[in-house]
Amino acid sequence: MRVLGIETSCDETAVAIVTDEGGRFVLEKNQLASQARIHAQYGGVVPEVAAREHAAIIFDLMEKGEIPRDGEGIDVVAVTAGPGLVPALRIGVELGKALAWAWGKPLVAVNHIEGHIYSVWFEKVTPSFPALCLLVSGGHTELIVMRGHGQYELLGMTRDDAAGEAFDKVAKLLGLAYPGGPEISRAALKGNPAAINFPRPMLESGDFDFSFSGLKTAVRVRREQFPEDTVEDVAASFQQAAIDTLVTKTLRAAQKIQPASVILSGGVSANKLLRETLHDQLMLEMPSATFHAPDLSLTGDNAAMIALAGLMKARRGEYVDPLTLVADPNMRLA
Ligand code: KG4
Ligand code: ZN
Repeated sequence: MRVLGIETSCDETAVAIVTDEGGRFVLEKNQLASQARIHAQYGGVVPEVAAREHAAIIFDLMEKGEIPRDGEGIDVVAVTAGPGLVPALRIGVELGKALAWAWGKPLVAVNHIEGHIYSVWFEKVTPSFPALCLLVSGGHTELIVMRGHGQYELLGMTRDDAAGEAFDKVAKLLGLAYPGGPEISRAALKGNPAAINFPRPMLESGDFDFSFSGLKTAVRVRREQFPEDTVEDVAASFQQAAIDTLVTKTLRAAQKIQPASVILSGGVSANKLLRETLHDQLMLEMPSATFHAPDLSLTGDNAAMIALAGLMKARRGEYVDPLTLVADPNMRLA
């Protein structure tokens, strides 16, 4: 099966082609254009600006990716239908519908979160079920149990800011550029993670939910009270607090679920300290479980993961009608 994937849910425009050959997934084409620089001047993503940029560039990407204009050789069209920013999502969704309609090919609506989870299926060793997924991105922080392909249970989620959003907001407080995650982790390399003892929110909440807005406020208050702190020390101490919380809760969930594998994915999974800490702690506490994180080229938004997740749905015949599909900003996994 050869699947075209389309992704426009936030500030990356992306198209990709994925095939399944001999039990493995092959990424034949992968085109991505980031608008991060454009949104940096606003300090965050502006939905209407994102939509305009998607529309301006997506056919260029189709040409660069050598997507056949007549759909020759493509079996399925897969598009991110949600969650995300409605004006941005709509560009991809309408393109996907138009192509499926014109080519007479089946259409699959992919949940963006599901795409992030499937980004680890490009690896040589793929997760076994049940899998416990920590999904950490700019818009979401969720613990999800996956009992099989396409079977999801939401175990916990953030009650306010997403983990990536916290990195972005703290970066802004520290005068660092958007997106803040990579900036914070870079600054943290030169800082002392034990310099400031920031709160580890919700550790004793007794559930699997997260909260990051209190941590962000703690950074702001600390900044006002101790302006002499170095940016590097604040970045390192904040990062340590955020990672401690994510890792501790994930391991607690693992003790409850006893998963065969643990998956870390989403934009924040690019964070080296998070990857290493979760991997190392898991191997200590649950050596029988396998650990999976996407290749660094696939941690952020991309269409490869959408094509792969779409391929899995196509195998199950989960198609949608190209005449009626609408973008759903609050699309649910489970
Ligand atoms: O998955 P993604 O590309 O977009 C969404 O679906 O939201 O995630 C983007 C988020 C941003 O908040 C960005 O700051 C964060 O991922 N991020 C990081 C790192 N690289 C990207 N956060 C922490 N450490 C990083 N190295
Ligand atoms: Zn994403």
